[in-house]
Amino acid sequence: MKQMIIEGNNILSGTIEIGGAKNSAVALIPASILANGTSVIENVPNISDRDALLDILNILNCESNLKQDKLTIDTTKLKNSVIEESLSSRMRASYYFMGALLGREKFVEIYIPGGCNIGTRPIDIHLDGFRALGANITIEGNKYTLKADKLIGTDIYLKFPSVGATINIILAAVLAEGKTIIHNAAKEIEIVNVVDYLITMGANIEGAGTNEITITGVNELHGGKISVLPDRIEAGTYIILGALCGKDLKISNIIPEHLEALTSKLKEMGVNLIINKDNIIVNKVNELKPINIKTLIYPGFPTDIGQPMSVLLTKGNGTSLFEETIWENRMGHVPSLNKMGANIKVNGMNAIINGPTKLKGCEVIATDLRGGAALVIAGLAAEGTTIITDVEHILRGYENIKGKLTNVGAKIELKEI
Ligand code: EPU
Repeated sequence: MKQMIIEGNNILSGTIEIGGAKNSAVALIPASILANGTSVIENVPNISDRDALLDILNILNCESNLKQDKLTIDTTKLKNSVIEESLSSRMRASYYFMGALLGREKFVEIYIPGGCNIGTRPIDIHLDGFRALGANITIEGNKYTLKADKLIGTDIYLKFPSVGATINIILAAVLAEGKTIIHNAAKEIEIVNVVDYLITMGANIEGAGTNEITITGVNELHGGKISVLPDRIEAGTYIILGALCGKDLKISNIIPEHLEALTSKLKEMGVNLIINKDNIIVNKVNELKPINIKTLIYPGFPTDIGQPMSVLLTKGNGTSLFEETIWENRMGHVPSLNKMGANIKVNGMNAIINGPTKLKGCEVIATDLRGGAALVIAGLAAEGTTIITDVEHILRGYENIKGKLTNVGAKIELKEI
């Protein structure tokens, strides 16, 4: 088990380079299975979810070669489509092997995916999509067996624009016979990144980034090439950190348009931001206004930045209302923030945050990835020492967090306990 020890209340300045997006990379790696050949993914983030996916590729007899952030995957010797529970339960995104293996092999045996405990996280929309394409699905305990003689394109209406289901159905449909139209598709930019990759493999897909995506099946895909787009959630977390304790803190290698839902809310609070073409410079200000935030699907305020943002709301001069609409259990970090001195009252998926409050270091627990990141930035803004346990949650999705923050003046230690 790992523990993070943070000496807070330092001014942070310099540059934080943002890596590739976790939520793109974790779909791009399984998507490679669809190509019969060698594919290259650049700007792959160095996170533990990446390693868990590479372990699955290995079991499937696919060769992967990682040189810094460049990943080469050769799937020509693929021979297995059974993924054991110990592998599938290591992360949420293992479910992308359902769509990819069903698409290529018309068979997959896999177990319920893992991931953060932020809600019930059903996968019914994924499964309904696979069934509509012609898959037969058997569920025994935690085991899912998906098979099909052939997959045939059809119209699929998603009851909610799920990111994962949209990607998974695309993966299953690219090699299906005929045309699949996904209605009420999710519009997240990570989906566009995955579709761009599939197109370099020879897939025929239109409409990614809109709520109607059309996939016309092709017979075979060859190796493809893509660069993972910058991680808007990692960037957002560090921009919020800059608003708490930055002096000309530059968050670079980003696409500022992907962060507009966040930057407009930060401006509403009175945060001092300089937005350039591929970076944002942020400064701490002494007086912040309270605001109301409601998380929404893209391009609304991202649920994944909600928890870090709640830390900044503790500095607003008055009462802020925070409403989470995607995950029913995204307030797991609040008891820790309150222990540090925040005044947050949770009612179901809503929180009332009264500020401004001073944060003081103490011992806290990371209950999930983004909640853990929220505690890191709270610790950096707090007086004294913050000790965070269960840091593994954070390392799943923030590459080199200690190094990146130490570089800009943070005092952080990572210890094995
Ligand atoms: N949902 C269903 N049935 C389904 C799928 C989803 O009811 O079959 C519901 C979920 O319970 C949830 C909502 O639909 O209430 C949204 O779920 P979605 O499928 O869009 O989320 P996801 O694909 O499982 C991805 C990210 C999450 C991010 C959400 C929303 C990955 C690996 N995960 O999850 O990222 O919060 O989209 O943007 O891409 C994170 O990075 O911390 C994280 C949790």
